[in-house]
Amino acid sequence: MKAMVMALISLFIFSLFITSSGEISGQPGVNYGELGNNLPTPTTSVSLIKNLKAKRVKIYDANPEILKALENTGFQVSIMLPNQLITNISSNQTLSNQWIQSNLVPFYPKTLIRYLLVGNELISSTSNQTWPHIVPAMHRIKHSLTIFGLHKIKVGTTSAMDVLQTSFPPSNGTFRDDIAFSVIKPMLEFLHVTNSFFFLDVYPFFAWTSDPININLNYALFESDNITVTDPNTGLVYTNLFDQMVDAVYFAMERLGFPSIRIFIAETGWPNGGDLDQIGANIHNAATYNRNIVKKVTKKPPTGTPARPGSVLPTFIFALFNENLKPGLGTERHFGLLYPNGSSIYEIDLSGKTLESEFKTLPPAEDYKGKAWCVVAEGANETAVVEALSYACSQGNQTCDSVQPGKPCFKPDSVVDRASYAFSSYWAQFRHVGGTCNFNGLATQIAKDPSYGSCKYPSVTL
Ligand SMILES: *[C@@H]1O[C@H](CO)[C@@H](O)[C@H](O)[C@H]1NC(C)=O
Ligand SMILES: *[C@@H]1O[C@H](CO)[C@@H](O)[C@H](O)[C@H]1NC(C)=O
Ligand SMILES: *[C@@H]1O[C@H](CO)[C@@H](O)[C@H](O)[C@H]1NC(C)=O
Ligand SMILES: *[C@@H]1O[C@H](CO)[C@@H](O)[C@H](O)[C@H]1NC(C)=O
Ligand SMILES: *[C@@H]1O[C@H](CO)[C@@H](O)[C@H](O)[C@H]1NC(C)=O
Ligand SMILES: *[C@@H]1O[C@H](CO)[C@@H](O)[C@H](O)[C@H]1NC(C)=O
Ligand SMILES: *[C@@H]1O[C@H](CO)[C@@H](O)[C@H](O)[C@H]1NC(C)=O
Ligand SMILES: *[C@@H]1O[C@H](CO)[C@@H](O)[C@H](O)[C@H]1NC(C)=O
Repeated sequence: MKAMVMALISLFIFSLFITSSGEISGQPGVNYGELGNNLPTPTTSVSLIKNLKAKRVKIYDANPEILKALENTGFQVSIMLPNQLITNISSNQTLSNQWIQSNLVPFYPKTLIRYLLVGNELISSTSNQTWPHIVPAMHRIKHSLTIFGLHKIKVGTTSAMDVLQTSFPPSNGTFRDDIAFSVIKPMLEFLHVTNSFFFLDVYPFFAWTSDPININLNYALFESDNITVTDPNTGLVYTNLFDQMVDAVYFAMERLGFPSIRIFIAETGWPNGGDLDQIGANIHNAATYNRNIVKKVTKKPPTGTPARPGSVLPTFIFALFNENLKPGLGTERHFGLLYPNGSSIYEIDLSGKTLESEFKTLPPAEDYKGKAWCVVAEGANETAVVEALSYACSQGNQTCDSVQPGKPCFKPDSVVDRASYAFSSYWAQFRHVGGTCNFNGLATQIAKDPSYGSCKYPSVTL
């Protein structure tokens, strides 16, 4: 009897293994972010995703219109539980059940929901008061899925690279002390028992911009054939920054006792534009990076990474559209494969079947060189601009002298013009010590001189 049970159990585990590894594909999906006020309808967006030949679609909520538009399309879909609900759901099974019942059940299985992510980069974007609730919320959600008989949906949560304390060399990869044992270890236990994935957001672009002198751009773009980094502890040889970052996480998981959890790339990408002073963010590099990541993850047999050779790396590219309402630096609003009007920013085929030579030649990769000014952004909140203006004028030397009555830039007597002067004047004085042209998103960089008559706006030279 006992032997029989054991045999059944091992058969069960064996078949679990077969089906789960059989169903996972390397053909990438796309992150469908919705932070734009000029984006196409869900139905149009879904047909654009088809044209890109994506395999999967990830959204940052459970938008019913999008889930409806994804019905009967064959896309594997990843939905997300909003960050604000994590704490309440972690202690309330009824609430968890209700969320599943009203957000997921109505669409399943016509919409092929395969992944349910419990929050987005919670460690990076919420206070440590939320962190203890992450894993309990994952358990609640998993339990709710079981109650509704939804056994094929994997539960996870996304992490950015800032969950690591050490990432170089990759074999030294270690989770941060403040989360390793309190949050990450129980999370890995959950992912292990449920045969789910560690969902990771990986941006070689940000790693490279933090140290462009020492990190070679081509190494970050998968374009270097003569630069390698050897991990002195393992002897593993790296030919690109992405593999290095992913392996650091594998090693960190292994250090906590979980060597077999698979990584799912929840986001990766490269910006096609940005602020004038942001280097490396252009169409050429974005196309190069994204085409190369597609080539990498669709290769058959799979290449994996140096620490996990041969493993499949399921991936979502970030993102479908340039999203004009994303806060932060200009690059944040330029990660799209498509413009908001639906046209391609550059050619890409997520199936990996189009050869590089079949694509049209890309524009050259050029950073902006010349003078730049910092002016009020279109649509900026005027009350907030008044506050930012008075802040800017209070900083530095003679920052706003020229806009005083009787001075060259006093006229036209408008808040936007005066603030644009103040922002430019502030940026010109403080850029060399790290001052930025941002003012909480109220400001933007321009290359066209706003000076007029005898009113000369201070500039920076990039
Ligand atoms: C969480 O629960 C508390 C107490 O029931 C409630 O006041 C609060 O509005 C809930 N938060 C959210 C985001 O639903
Ligand atoms: C749990 O959630 C349910 C459904 O939203 C709500 O009615 C109930 O008051 C919550 N329980 C507690 C203890 O907050
Ligand atoms: C949470 O963060 C606060 C402020 O950063 C810190 O003072 C506190 O020690 C942290 N608490 C824990 C449990 O890590
Ligand atoms: C690994 O990290 C430790 C401290 O985190 C450091 O002392 C050590 O030098 C690192 N090893 C290598 C090979 O860099
Ligand atoms: C790699 O090749 C490039 C282009 O051929 C060359 O400019 C560069 O110096 C080489 N770098 C190294 C480290 O050999
Ligand atoms: C779509 O938008 C881009 C960027 O604004 C523009 O260059 C392109 O001409 C537009 N395409 C169409 C078909 O309107
Ligand atoms: C505009 O900014 C002010 C001051 O920062 C703020 O109180 C107000 O809510 C903002 N208005 C809008 C529409 O965002
Ligand atoms: C303002 O002037 C003082 C005295 O000349 C100088 O030390 C300081 O660096 C100036 N500040 C800026 C932001 O240029």
